[in-house]
Amino acid sequence: MRTKPVLGILTWREGKRFSEPKYLRRLVLAGQRLGAETFLFSHQDVNSAEKKIRGFVPVKGGGWESRLFPWPDVVIDRYRKRVDTYLRLRHSGLFQFANSPFGKKWRVTEMLAKEERVKHWIPKTVVYAAGKVKAMLKHHKIVYVKPGNGTGGRSIVKIMAQGDHFLIRGRNRRLSQVETKLGSVESVEKWIRRWVREQRIGDGNFLVQQGLDLELVPDRVADVRLLIQKKGDGEWDVTGSGVRLGPAGSSISNLHGGGKPISFSAFMNKCFGEERALEIHQECQHLAHEVAVVLEQKFGRMMEFGLDVGVDVLGAVWLIEVNPKPGREIFSQMGDSQTYAEAIARPVSFALHLVSASGSEENSDPKQGRE
Ligand SMILES: Nc1ncnc2c1ncn2[C@@H]1O[C@H](COP(=O)(O)OP(=O)(O)OP(=O)(O)O)[C@@H](O)[C@H]1O
Ligand SMILES: [Mg+2]
Repeated sequence: MRTKPVLGILTWREGKRFSEPKYLRRLVLAGQRLGAETFLFSHQDVNSAEKKIRGFVPVKGGGWESRLFPWPDVVIDRYRKRVDTYLRLRHSGLFQFANSPFGKKWRVTEMLAKEERVKHWIPKTVVYAAGKVKAMLKHHKIVYVKPGNGTGGRSIVKIMAQGDHFLIRGRNRRLSQVETKLGSVESVEKWIRRWVREQRIGDGNFLVQQGLDLELVPDRVADVRLLIQKKGDGEWDVTGSGVRLGPAGSSISNLHGGGKPISFSAFMNKCFGEERALEIHQECQHLAHEVAVVLEQKFGRMMEFGLDVGVDVLGAVWLIEVNPKPGREIFSQMGDSQTYAEAIARPVSFALHLVSASGSEENSDPKQGRE
């Protein structure tokens, strides 16, 4: 009989170099504090034939130490690279995962756009092909073009119809700002064709999306990052939210692209007044719950989502993007250490909930378990 539940956190590592060391260090410590034997591991640490697993735990003062651990009861998947060795392990059926594999950006958007419960929050989106930008510009004064497999705001352009010309603003792969003014929709089509060719990642596609007017502050874009997570009782709850305000002249709000985090209510109260800001907040919460439920029905059990939500200048709420393995640094950067701590403890509490649920037969659901 084991005395303690065992939690594994699957991530990328090379030697003792891990992705997201700061967050994962805290996640392991949260697991230990909540009474679980907790460790990080990567695909190369699993010996499935002998059912042995090497795990890594933080050492006081910095660094990591490794040893053999008991087989984990539940694994949290935090692997963010789509490499074959990871994908094989992910689909091996060796572990009970807290979170299921998630779909590609375009498939997720396409699916949400068809769902009655959420479709009114999804901006019109099509896969890029010749003529699509021109067609989208017929109906929308702002259009975004972005890679279907991009991250961190890279290779995203915003096209704005302004009287007799078009202004294009974007970020290239290195997040440097790009700006140009063009006289006709044909020249925009041509410019974008070249952009897509040059910025393409592997064999990935690009999306053409209805652009939202997020200039709540002149010449800057602001959007909302919202974290919805499962709690220790297995129920969804919005842990927190914050506004990201992009730098002047930028097409994106991402923190890595120079965006600044601000408290939701402070920012929205100023833009819309307290009463309207409260309604917007409630709509964001409602959106988050609906989206989580719909996505879980489609992809299987999930644990958390980071939602990029646009609130346009009229106060309308839109879903820009869903991140299944979200960062939570916005809360520490806003100085909200309580929400940050909660955002780290919740995945552990939920994983522990799964351990106790699979221990009692009544509660175990064979459909939701191993994959
Ligand atoms: N349709 C849109 N209308 C207005 N602004 C948009 C739109 N699409 C993207 N943006 C802006 O660009 C930012 C980045 O876009 P998005 O979140 O889709 O990609 P990403 O951040 O590169 O991907 P990831 O979040 O997976 O790293 C958004 O946060 C928002 O500020
Ligand atoms: Mg994003």
